[in-house]
Amino acid sequence: MIYDVIEAAKEAGELIRNKFRTEVEINFKSNETDLVTEVDKASEKIILENIRKKYPSHEILAEESGETKTGSEFRWVIDPIDGTTNFAHGLPIFSVSIGVQKNGETIIGVIYDVMQDIVYSCEKGSGSFANGNKISVSSNENLRRGVLVTGFPYNIASNPENALEKFVALTKSARGIRRLGSAAIDLCYVAKGVFDGFWELFLNPWDICAGILLVEEAGGMVTDFFGNKIDIFSKRILASNGKIHKSILEVLNNN
Ligand code: IPD
Ligand code: CA
Ligand code: CA
Repeated sequence: MIYDVIEAAKEAGELIRNKFRTEVEINFKSNETDLVTEVDKASEKIILENIRKKYPSHEILAEESGETKTGSEFRWVIDPIDGTTNFAHGLPIFSVSIGVQKNGETIIGVIYDVMQDIVYSCEKGSGSFANGNKISVSSNENLRRGVLVTGFPYNIASNPENALEKFVALTKSARGIRRLGSAAIDLCYVAKGVFDGFWELFLNPWDICAGILLVEEAGGMVTDFFGNKIDIFSKRILASNGKIHKSILEVLNNN
């Protein structure tokens, strides 16, 4: 089944790559920072067609077209472009993210880094891979030497909660912080040991479904801001190499 997930992600990715830096129709969703392009929709269409052809009874939760309930134990959770703002502005950092769940537990995760042509993949219990090569989280035990990555919700202007305070505090505690604009790619880089940790508030299931399993299967840890296990509907996520998890939690909880 994982090969079918990879095939769908790559087919969608090829369309996205061909449309990159071309004139594309862009619309607003909740506000002017929350974009959707015709390519988001076309990418999702390709993925849905793949699923309907091979797994017509499976349930779907997809960002642009919503939920399809069938009563199946399988559910595909789809982000057709994670990093739409980057895509729309010509910055080559975006991905296709597809997770497959069985009875509510993620069993397959695939994230396709479209412009670098890297397929990140994992199956529950079998490790994580980048283009077929095994990947693992970093071994760094010291937050001071850690590089972390984060992102901000589209409604940050109206509902900032304390995302910015946390950002400031972690900027002062770590070696460096990055903001790439694709939560799924952020999670790939934690799984690959490039970043030591990632946190974000108010993400959606399609942003994190595949990435949570990818980090866990690469030997990392994923929790909420209290250190509890999360599911894909959680509104607070901290993913790390496990070794600096507690140090990050302390900063998140004191700011
Ligand atoms: C967004 C990206 C971004 C994150 C936003 C997400 P989208 O997804 O993952 O990194 O900070 O909160 O909504 O809209 O490009 O699919
Ligand atoms: Ca997304
Ligand atoms: Ca998206």
